[in-house]
Amino acid sequence: MTVDLLRRLPPSCWSSIEGELALEGVKVSTIAAKVGTPFYLYSAERLRENWRSLADALTPLGVSIHYAMKACANRAVVSILAAEGAGADIVSGGELARALAAGIPASKVVFSGVGKTDAEIAQALKTGVHQLNAESYEELWRIDRIAGELGLVADVALRVNPDVDADTHAKITTGRRDNKFGVDADRLGRLDNELKAMTNLRLVGLAVHIGSQILSVKPFAEAYGRMRKLVLSLRERGHAIERLDLGGGFGIAYQNELAPSPAEIAETIRTTVGDLGCALAVEPGRSIVADAGVLATRVEFVKEGADLRFAVVDAGMNDLMRPAMYDSHHDIVPVRLPKSDVEYSLYDVVGPICESSDTFAKRRHLPTLAAGDLVLLATAGAYGATMSGTYNGRALVSEILVDSGRWAVVRRRVPIEEQIGWESVPSWIA
Ligand code: LLP
Repeated sequence: MTVDLLRRLPPSCWSSIEGELALEGVKVSTIAAKVGTPFYLYSAERLRENWRSLADALTPLGVSIHYAMKACANRAVVSILAAEGAGADIVSGGELARALAAGIPASKVVFSGVGKTDAEIAQALKTGVHQLNAESYEELWRIDRIAGELGLVADVALRVNPDVDADTHAKITTGRRDNKFGVDADRLGRLDNELKAMTNLRLVGLAVHIGSQILSVKPFAEAYGRMRKLVLSLRERGHAIERLDLGGGFGIAYQNELAPSPAEIAETIRTTVGDLGCALAVEPGRSIVADAGVLATRVEFVKEGADLRFAVVDAGMNDLMRPAMYDSHHDIVPVRLPKSDVEYSLYDVVGPICESSDTFAKRRHLPTLAAGDLVLLATAGAYGATMSGTYNGRALVSEILVDSGRWAVVRRRVPIEEQIGWESVPSWIA
């Protein structure tokens, strides 16, 4: 049973010390005693491992990796990846500032996103980002105008919507025709004429991203295959398509899923687009950080309901939104490892927020829990802290990084008094 409990905690960085879980040699309870709960806890070593296993598979093919900042944008986390040589995929001026602050050079930054503002485009061009991925003709015109105003020439890749079903959750599917992303593959005919009039941009390539948490290489192969055809046909029409950005979306195991390995991803890329002579790039987020992070929380009460037993924890949906938003599964692991003869019961693990969607697990079989117990929500490093908020008047959750026995608070908890200070009451009301 215990082995199953720990299945989503990478054994390379988790161990047990005196019957308790420890990350890279640091007991979770030690950190909890110092900083209070809830908090995100990241393993620097696991981040490096994930980065290196993908880079080892892709670098020989000449594929550059632009880490999708939206998955986890903490400056310390991104600094670790920057030191590994990571580029960044950003979707806002804020993420550009974060990437630069973490030490990723502008020359390794790709700017994606469906609604970039004038100010963001100008900021990116002035900073000298590697490439802007445009998602519409309207946006191409906007980039052309702003580059002209700045006296620059913008390097732009056009994001194509390949109309491929990624077979993932509807809310994180992006490559179907009815999604807002990219230009429909069959609307590229207009490019020839329109590009002639855009004198301040250079179409350097194409981009695609079909969704997130994709568990089979099949949709990737299909999408990349379509991109291959488009590259060839655009080249025939005289466009120098030199770059191909293949997006992110590589799935991971939250429960027992079988996720594609870096080797399988590399092989899919090689066989579909490897011979085009394009500079290839990918934009993974989740697969780099998800299993390098957990959310540590404490049981406040075990509440006996009429039919159910609720474990009420001190983390809420404001701290980890994924279960409420996508019905996502996160393994729940007690920090004090249960003895082999411990009883298991069914729990609904819930937070304190005043919504029924504030539920981390339903009818979960867990070792007996009691008030005060620390538990971990596993595989929470991606889209955890970045999506956290302050709903219900809560402090913004803190983030802790562990690196070979050392640990540090890398985002402090933002208390309510400070948040109140962000607001002001107009003089006519006060
Ligand atoms: N590139 C683009 C253009 C994207 O939109 C995304 C993710 C990525 C790369 C990175 O995808 P990844 O490798 O992480 O799958 N909040 C959701 C996931 C939203 C993904 C949005 N776009 C979740 O918690 O599951």
